[in-house]
Order: sequence, then structure tokens, then C-alpha cells
Amino acid sequence: MTGPATANDREQIFREGFESYRRYVNPLVPLRAQLLGEPVQVTAVVDGQLLEERGLYEDFHGTQTFGHRHPAVTAALQAFLASDAPNWFPSRVSPYAGSLARRLCERANRSNEGPRPAYSNVFFANSGSGGVEAAIKLARAATGRPRILALDGAYHGTTMGSLALMKPGMFKDPFAPHLPGAESLPLNDVDALARAFAAGGVGAVVLEPIQLEGGVRTVSSAYIEALCALTEQHGALLVADEIQTGLGRTGRFLASECWPRRPDVVVLGKHLGGGLLPISAMMTSEALFERAYGQHYASAEAHNTTFGGNALVCVAAHATLDLLTDEVIASVASRGAALRARLDKQLARHALFEDVRGAGLLIGIGLRASDHPWLSFQHFGIDSLSEQPTTGVLLCHRLYKRGFYAFACGHDWRILRVLPRFNIPDAVLDRFVTTIDEELGYLCSLV
Ligand SMILES: Cc1ncc(COP(=O)(O)O)c(C=O)c1O
Repeated sequence: MTGPATANDREQIFREGFESYRRYVNPLVPLRAQLLGEPVQVTAVVDGQLLEERGLYEDFHGTQTFGHRHPAVTAALQAFLASDAPNWFPSRVSPYAGSLARRLCERANRSNEGPRPAYSNVFFANSGSGGVEAAIKLARAATGRPRILALDGAYHGTTMGSLALMKPGMFKDPFAPHLPGAESLPLNDVDALARAFAAGGVGAVVLEPIQLEGGVRTVSSAYIEALCALTEQHGALLVADEIQTGLGRTGRFLASECWPRRPDVVVLGKHLGGGLLPISAMMTSEALFERAYGQHYASAEAHNTTFGGNALVCVAAHATLDLLTDEVIASVASRGAALRARLDKQLARHALFEDVRGAGLLIGIGLRASDHPWLSFQHFGIDSLSEQPTTGVLLCHRLYKRGFYAFACGHDWRILRVLPRFNIPDAVLDRFVTTIDEELGYLCSLV
């Protein structure tokens, strides 16, 4: 069979593509999705939501910050494609990358006034992992030191450098031996941090301001203060992985804006391309770029990626930044606070409810594990997951049936992650609060 040649073959793609995914990409992903009852066969976008046979789905994954296929991002891309501007510049001197880099720096510096040099240099990659990889390489090249510290529970990506900073488990263990010098520290343990620095040789500390996959865990202010002081004192780079927390998600442009000192490096990704195109950005200072790569012509390109910052992805990012106004970010802060308070109040009566956590519209709902034998993975015939709690997964399963696409955190299945789009109507949030209350109530009635 010849493959579909144009977008007009969409019908054929939807007819055979789901099955081909199972056969030619990865059989376990559709199997898991099927077991969990996830909406898999989504075929269209309606007002930012996904359409499946069973109806419309509100996507809480977080990558689609303004809903799927936002018309403004789509229109910007269509206009670019209808023009005759080059998408890729063989000299690498891309005016699109230049103008986006400048805009990102100016935007980040505007709401990030600190005692350190402003962001003035950007590297564009194609994925969050690629951005973290660039930060690790910058730290090694700029400081000449081997040790890269991360925090227990971290998720920084799946390339060899970024996964070396990952919490142990299936995302990391099979790929040993890991990057020498990569170490993990216990979260919020200031003494352990001080001891790690006392041993010397620290090039960078990489952390998420709020660990999303780790269970929506916020790094404490005491720890951040110590981290800012120690990295400064020892000349190590402070790297904020803001792939989840950045670009307004926590109710600030950057979650690290409120830290006592500006991180030397911040990494952005996920919805930077408006949910339509892949782009990530590693932002740092010109001085650090000079130290790492500014020695001679050859080293200037010692870290690069072929399609990083091509015009199309930059156009999508510009359109996304147009949408991400100060008013929108302020509304993420206030609507997020209101939603968290409502969830906390409404769900408190359920025995399987633990807490609500997070900031802005990056929300975690903590659930208690049930010890009822019927609510175990063994009961469902999946012995290999017998150590995992089922509450989060079962709740997701029930939410799917009611039109909400949410997940449990990758490293901690007790926590349900809820990352609504920024332009979600209030009525849909109301419906979500009622729905999760009913569904958690149902699960509680079984135990
Ligand atoms: C905090 C954080 N860093 C890095 C990554 C890796 O990004 P990507 O999957 O785009 O490589 C992720 C992905 O979820 C993430 O959550």
C-alpha cells in the first residue's frame, strides 16, 4: 500500500493510521490507552477541544495552552506558508530565530528584575529534552566542572544527558551507565545541598520550580534561597527547567521570577510552539555563551541542531507570545487560585482525597491509595504494576468517560495532574469540579 500523499487523504489516514501506529510505532502505548479507556480515536478539533466518537474532550495535558489548533496560531502559520519567505537558512543566520530570541529575552527580563545579568542569549532546540541537554553542555563548557546536580523526583527529558538527572525507574534505569557527574539530591534538604557543594566541582544545579511528573511538588523557598546563595558563592550555574512551569502556567511568565536571584539558565518548551509545532528555548546570558562557545569560529557551533529555530516554529512561537498577554497571565493566577480552593473545599469530604497542590493552572490533586483488593492492579490482571496505587488511574478512567482527558503524574500515580488551557470557559471548569466530585465519590463508595 502506498502512503497517503496529501492532507486530502485524511480519511485514509484515520482509517488505517491508528492500527498502523500499533504495528509500526509502539504496540504498548495503544494497549495501555485502551486498558485505561483513554479517548484514542480522536479525529477532529472543535473549539480547542478534541472530538472522538463518544463526544468532545477537554484536554488537561498542558501542552495545548490555548486549546488545540488555536485559530491565531494556525492563521500565522498559514500566512507564513502562503508567503515566499525561506523557512531554513543554510548560513544559520535566521532573522526569525533572531527576532524570537530578542522577544523572549525582553519579555523574560521585563518581569524578572534581579541582581544578575539579564537574559541575552537563546538557543533553540526541537524538544524540552534538547533544551535541557543544551543547558548541561553549556554548564560543562562554561565552568569546566564535571558535577551536574538535580533533585530527587525530577523529570528533565529522555535524552542521555537529561535522563541522567531523572528519578530512578523505567525512564532511566535501562539506559545505564549514565552521564558521569550527574547526581541526585533529596528535595528541600538544605544540609544535603550544602554538603554537595562543599565537595567541590559543581558545574550546575538543574531543577524544576515545581516538579510536575514528580507529583506537583513545589521546591521550598528556604531551599531556593540556599540554592541561589550556594550557586552564586561557588560560581555554579543555576538552571531552571521551566518546560512545564514557564510561559504563564503558574500565573507568572516564569515561575522562577520570584526567586532571590535570576537563574543563569532557563529552559522553555511545551506550548512555546502554540501546541502546533515543536520548539524549545534555552535562555542564558551573553557572558555565559561567550565563556562556553565564544572562543573561536569552530566552537561557536559546537552545540547545534539542524532545524532548531527554523522560521515556521518561530512564527508559531511569536503567535503564541501574542496570545500570552499580561492580562492572560494574571487571569491564570487568579482563576487557578479559585479553582484550587474550590477543588479543595468540594473534595475534602472524600476518604480517598488527600490534597490540592500547585500554582496557577498547574494543579495536582493528591489521592490516597486504597487497600481494597478489588482496587488493585492484581485484581485487573496486571501483576507487573502491583506496587502502584490505582486510585489516580481509575479516576482518570472515569473522567475520560465524562469528557476530561487527565493523567496521573509519571513518577507518582497518586497525584492527578490537571493543567487546563488558559482560555477554558468558566462553565467547563464548573463542570469539571462537579464531575470529579461525583467520580471520586463513586470510587469512595466501592471501598
Ligand atoms: C520538566 C520537564 N522537563 C523536560 C521535559 C522533556 O521535554 P520533551 O518531552 O519535550 O523532550 C519534560 C517533559 O514532559 C518536562 O516535564
